Amino acid sequence: MLLSPSLLAADFSDLKGQIALLNESEADMLHLDVMDGVFVPNISFGFPVLRHVARLCQKPLDVHLMIVEPQKFIPQVAALGAYYMNVHYEAVTHLHRVIWQIREAGMHPAVTLNPSTPVSVLADIIRDVDMVLLMSVNPGFGGQKFIEHTYTKVRQLRQLIEETGSKALIEIDGGVNMQTAPLLVEAGADILVAGSAVYGAEDVVKAAHDLKAVCQMDK
Ligand code: DX5
Ligand code: ZN
Repeated sequence: MLLSPSLLAADFSDLKGQIALLNESEADMLHLDVMDGVFVPNISFGFPVLRHVARLCQKPLDVHLMIVEPQKFIPQVAALGAYYMNVHYEAVTHLHRVIWQIREAGMHPAVTLNPSTPVSVLADIIRDVDMVLLMSVNPGFGGQKFIEHTYTKVRQLRQLIEETGSKALIEIDGGVNMQTAPLLVEAGADILVAGSAVYGAEDVVKAAHDLKAVCQMDK
């Protein structure tokens, strides 16, 4: 399992220290939640902050854009040196074009689905993306309750990936903790985002270690 802690749950009064902990930890990447107050009912942080984060972070950046018209920001996300650029299926009309623009900008394109969007909508795009992010809470806030139906969606997505020969990885975001993480990996998830479960913990480095370890144990 690859672990992508979400900075959203970090102590923003000490971003430098919080990113140093991530660098030191077993986390595989850093998940960055950008919100615009339009696509989701909340606002988080934008590019002036992300530029500092990118400079300090030694791990790949997993950028999750919860914004309308995310295609407008492809150059800015690319300039951060982002590894994944996640755009919501619900926010983009011409998804195929946007996915290829992200790839041409040198990043790995990923498509994100809200909890109410079925996996079946991905049938004609699954071979073009490097990752699918399934939201297991309604996007906009950290610390929400995990939606149990996500396990079924992970299995459906795993089946679609196998049937189509897609190389996409499966990422889950929302309510990931020591209980849900091993079950998600068992269902077929590759990457787990964890906000409260890592940055909300007393010991961030230990929390990242424990989450990875609990998923290994079950394998
Ligand atoms: C929610 C964000 C998540 C959030 C997860 O809109 O996309 O990445 O940080 O937080 P937890 O892990 O606390 O549910
Ligand atoms: Zn996210």
